[in-house]
Amino acid sequence: MKVLAIETSCDETGIALVQGEKTEAGLRLRTLGESLLSQAKLHAEYGGVYPTLAKREHEKNLPHILEQALAEAGARIAEVDAIVVTEGPGLEPALWTGIEFAKKLSTQHQKPLFGVNHMEGHIVSSLATHAENSADLYTLKMPAVPVLALLVSGGHTEFALMREWFSYELIGRTLDDAAGEAFDKVARMLGLPYPGGPHISRLASAARDTMPGTSEVSLPRPMLHAGTCDMSFSGLKTAALYALRDLGELGEDRKALFAREFEDAVGDVLVEKARRALEETGAKTFVLGGGVAANAYLREKLRALVHAEFPGVELRLPRLAITGDNAVMIGHAALAHLLRDDWNLSSPRAEIRASGNLSLASK
Ligand code: KG4
Ligand code: ZN
Repeated sequence: MKVLAIETSCDETGIALVQGEKTEAGLRLRTLGESLLSQAKLHAEYGGVYPTLAKREHEKNLPHILEQALAEAGARIAEVDAIVVTEGPGLEPALWTGIEFAKKLSTQHQKPLFGVNHMEGHIVSSLATHAENSADLYTLKMPAVPVLALLVSGGHTEFALMREWFSYELIGRTLDDAAGEAFDKVARMLGLPYPGGPHISRLASAARDTMPGTSEVSLPRPMLHAGTCDMSFSGLKTAALYALRDLGELGEDRKALFAREFEDAVGDVLVEKARRALEETGAKTFVLGGGVAANAYLREKLRALVHAEFPGVELRLPRLAITGDNAVMIGHAALAHLLRDDWNLSSPRAEIRASGNLSLASK
């Protein structure tokens, strides 16, 4: 089965042609062609994603991205079994462009159309294991349940518990900003370009290597012992702002020290909440997903936590290539639904609408 997957929820325009089949070892998912265009540079001057610009760029680029993905696959739309598109969560004007484009293709080529939850895309693609000898081949098998997913991106920071395929319970979430958003805002305060997460991470790791033990600020770890799996990052962001005001102009070394303290604070919160969530849920598998899943320090801390305190839990960390938004993950989630007969090609969804706040728990 082949699907054409479209992702436009934020500032990445992605289209992928993904093929899936059932095998004894699980679902085999192969990317036949993919094209992904990041608008990050264009949004950089606004210090974040500017929805009207994102919409315009998606509209302009989708036809070209489609051609590229099909050319890479050496395929035509006539060959696909379904068209699948991100319906939420995300920026509604951005989501709508992908949905309208998908609807047109679906009508024109008489293909069934399905809407995919972006966060489920992060979970399913993070759960898929990657075949080392091929860049485009993944195997997806339901790991031991319950599966605890920690999703950390620019718009979300939440723990979702999956007891069976496609059924999620949110057991904790940020009450204000997402962790990725805090990374981006603090990066901006430090004069680093958007998106700031990778820049903070680079500076922080340099400080860990070259200035161990040195510290001149101490930032809060909000809600660390709040007794729930909920989180908060807006107070940390404000504390960073005030601390930077007090510190005045910073040279490279002091910026790196600050970045390290900030990354430590976010890491401490996420690790403590992950510990609590693993204890509370008795999860057998722990999976990390979303853009911040690329953060090397967080990956290392979570690995250490599971190794030391939850040795029976299987940790699945996504390949770096799929941590950021992309259409392959949307194809993976859709193929999981279709190949496991949760969706039926002959009864596509009647109407797909952009849903900016679409939750994993709403079914
Ligand atoms: O999932 P994603 O690509 O888009 C959303 O759905 O939001 O996540 C983007 C977020 C941005 O906030 C970006 O700064 C952050 O992921 N990010 C990182 C790293 N790489 C990306 N944050 C910390 N460390 C990184 N290495
Ligand atoms: Zn995302």
